[in-house]
Amino acid sequence: MMKWSALFAAAVCGPLLAGCMDDLSAGSVAGPRLSDEQTAQIEDGRAIAEGNCAACHAIGSQGDSPNPLAPRFRLLLSRYKADVLETELNEGMRVAHAPMPQFQFKPEATASLIAYLRSVQTRDPGLALVEQRCSRCHAIGATDTSPYPGAQPFRKLGQRWWRGQLRDALKTGIIVEHDTAEARVPPMKLNDAEIDALLAYLDSIATKENPAPKAP
Ligand code: HEC
Ligand code: HEC
Repeated sequence: MMKWSALFAAAVCGPLLAGCMDDLSAGSVAGPRLSDEQTAQIEDGRAIAEGNCAACHAIGSQGDSPNPLAPRFRLLLSRYKADVLETELNEGMRVAHAPMPQFQFKPEATASLIAYLRSVQTRDPGLALVEQRCSRCHAIGATDTSPYPGAQPFRKLGQRWWRGQLRDALKTGIIVEHDTAEARVPPMKLNDAEIDALLAYLDSIATKENPAPKAP
């Protein structure tokens, strides 16, 4: 069966240039070989984000969100599937508990916005690590809830841990907590590179309200 995103691509690309289908089917993150159409689409998306979203969200590949509650765009697709977001933006996106205005975009504008979002996603080692090994239990984003109820959201770690203390605990293995939690987490030890990546990731999701673990 054809994926919904492929149908979507066909609908949007019909009237456009032949290269379009290849561009979209090429998949997620825009690679180094961008066609002119892709570049133009990403540029359109960036303009839309700048005009409509940048007042609250960090829309680029670095920086904090002006509204600390608004997730940074570069981390958005790590917990939000692109096709779900596409549907929501096309159907009129409304965010609960937020001062975020409701948006409804035309499919072509949505496709540009999604292409832009893909182009700024961070694939840093820390994000990859927490996605693969921690996100099954811990909330790893700016506003999400932990899938495993007893597991603390990572954004709250700075309220409970000094940086050096967390480093030591992860190096020795947070064995006790993970074992007693009935979560059946295998004893988990991280090496120095993994801990550096994790701490850098915690810095990247830090906000005024939820600061990252501080030195010492
Ligand atoms: C006036 C401020 C504001 C503007 C403008 C704004 N947002 Fe948001 N947005 C927020 C806030 C605040 C949240 C966090 C809501 C929450 O977690 O309750 C949010 C959350 C989101 C989320 C995550 C929703 C979720 O359920 O996790 C997405 C996706 C999003 N915004 C997309 C956009 C896009 C795309 C634009 C521009 C077209 C935009 N926002 C413009 C304030 C804004
Ligand atoms: C299978 C579920 C699961 C996975 C996977 C998991 N954790 Fe946990 N983690 C928990 C639970 C549950 C707790 C709470 C234990 C308690 O409070 O006794 C916890 C606690 C922690 C704590 C202590 C939090 C605090 O403030 O006391 C840290 C730090 C932590 N986990 C880091 C990690 C990291 C880093 C990963 C991935 C490399 C990870 N965890 C993967 C379930 C998990």
